[in-house]
Amino acid sequence: MRIGVLTGGGDCPGLNAVIRSVVRKGVAEYGHEFIGFRDGWRGPLEGISKPLGIAEVRGILPRGGTILGSSRTNPFKIDGGVEKIKNNLAEQGVDALVAIGGEDTLGVATKLHELGVQVVGVPKTIDNDLGATDYTFGFDTAVNIAMEAIDRLHTTAESHHRTLVVEVMGRHAGWIALHAGLAGGANVILLPERPFDVDQVATYVEKRFQKQYAPIVVVSEGAHPLEGQMVLQHQELDAFGHVRLGGIGQWLAEQIEAKTGKEARTVVLGHIQRGGTPTAFDRVLATRLGLHAIDAAHEGDWGKMVAMQGTDIVRVPLVEATRELKTVPLERYAEAEVFFGS
Ligand code: F6P
Repeated sequence: MRIGVLTGGGDCPGLNAVIRSVVRKGVAEYGHEFIGFRDGWRGPLEGISKPLGIAEVRGILPRGGTILGSSRTNPFKIDGGVEKIKNNLAEQGVDALVAIGGEDTLGVATKLHELGVQVVGVPKTIDNDLGATDYTFGFDTAVNIAMEAIDRLHTTAESHHRTLVVEVMGRHAGWIALHAGLAGGANVILLPERPFDVDQVATYVEKRFQKQYAPIVVVSEGAHPLEGQMVLQHQELDAFGHVRLGGIGQWLAEQIEAKTGKEARTVVLGHIQRGGTPTAFDRVLATRLGLHAIDAAHEGDWGKMVAMQGTDIVRVPLVEATRELKTVPLERYAEAEVFFGS
């Protein structure tokens, strides 16, 4: 079989580990042939590919990013997009696809499968918010990067008797904020799942100062205050039509400063959380997902996504992965609240 591999959406540490294991097992055990499509769905849409053999995947396991490039191209939003993909696959002799991506990329894979394209999906997002899988690779790396930043911020906050607000990624779900905040000993954690009361946040900050310690507040980029408290529009569309979040950390620091009369600073970790080498956990998870994805493709089990459930890798229908976002349950948030202000 000739199989096309693509990576779509925001990049994520571990993508190369998936590509490597798909190709290594696919060639060595099953004798399949691979090509790499460039830049997510743009590759098959425009017929842009590159060779993908054992030589091309050598040495990429620890490398962040993706050797195939990525984009947020959606063929369903382009006139004749699906037909173009089908034609290009036929022209390049590609029998099937392994699509590695998040909500959007796998959403496209689901629809293409319904239209007869043979595809297997692999879940990825640092946000850990895809349904049907307990973890996505990239999440552990992002959490570790954010945790290390929080560890460092404790000492400088302490020295200057300041509040430090750390804004982390997480558009729809607060997994990174929750885990990094717990691991880094944050004094307040704010998630998109639960609108926060800015006065309550200021009270937690005061309580922490009263104990002669400096507060660290971790906030997801997608978190927002109770209705009526927001003074800043922090969601807009960029020139490419992508939703841009920003400003919640800065806004919050200003509010804390105004309400407590003590200095506050903001650190926006941004894309640092997505760059660089994956942790051991993410390398192993990504490798296992790749191995199971090529098994599914070899068996012709199309329309499936490989997923981590417990410690097992299982196959679930692609539709399940994109049906509902996996957000932080409020009981998990309540566990963290014990530490707020203390
Ligand atoms: O992929 C998820 C994510 O990391 C979000 O948390 C964040 O909002 C988004 O990507 C930003 O991605 P980009 O800057 O690539 O559009």
